Amino acid sequence: MSRSERRNDQPLPCHVAVIMDGNGRWAEARQLPRIAGHRSGAKRAEELIRFAGGELNLPYLTLFALSAENWRRPKSEVDFLIQLLDQFIAAKLEEFVASNVKFLVIGDISVFPASLQRTIEYAIASTAGNSGLVLSVALNYGGRQEIIRACCKVNAEITAGTIDPERLDMTTFRSYLYAPHIPDPELIIRTGGEQRVSNFLLWQLAYTELYFTETMWPDFTAKEFLQAISDFQTRQRRFGVTEEKT
Ligand code: IPE
Ligand code: IPE
Ligand code: MG
Repeated sequence: MSRSERRNDQPLPCHVAVIMDGNGRWAEARQLPRIAGHRSGAKRAEELIRFAGGELNLPYLTLFALSAENWRRPKSEVDFLIQLLDQFIAAKLEEFVASNVKFLVIGDISVFPASLQRTIEYAIASTAGNSGLVLSVALNYGGRQEIIRACCKVNAEITAGTIDPERLDMTTFRSYLYAPHIPDPELIIRTGGEQRVSNFLLWQLAYTELYFTETMWPDFTAKEFLQAISDFQTRQRRFGVTEEKT
């Protein structure tokens, strides 16, 4: 389904965010180590990025790949994830450049090994001029941490006299978030059967439509991605107001 041949008249979302959950359980169900699930999950992410940026022509895709809380998992799993992320970004960079994908990261990458930080920074710089899909990957990301970080930055501006606290509004506040120029997601998909947001995009999700599926992330196909979008197209978004005009 391209944007021009959509299934019904309802608008397609501009920004879809995905909580890619269920890798570990997918692997355990197959008597495989959890890391095998992460490996299959990375393959799935690769396909979905290609589909979103290509056929679907989606402007913004945000993927939750590693939460700030995931950092507390056993060292062996965290080390594997760090290595997988490094390989993934390095291996995909050529394709991102060729397919006009703009790569971004949200989250605190300062805790990562220097090699992963370099890979991330190189990928961001190499795709900065691209104008196709904006792909944000959330790494060591926490929504509460993002809000506190923004508060600290706002506080510093207030102390410096560059922000008048009486005039602080939502537009100014959001400019201190990780990626202020990315619009809020219209749709968030969580795979893996849990119905929670797990500290993802807390500010940005205020009016986002939620879609939960039992499908484990390594089994989440482009077809199901389209199903989620079709479901989104049936939602009536009201933003707190009524249809009736005064
Ligand atoms: C999601 O899968 C990937 C990360 C959080 C890194 P999980 O690893 O959480 O898989 P489950 O939820 O244990 O099945
Ligand atoms: C959310 O999944 C984070 C990612 C998918 C990266 P978790 O597996 O960490 O979430 P909880 O622990 O089930 O809430
Ligand atoms: Mg999980």
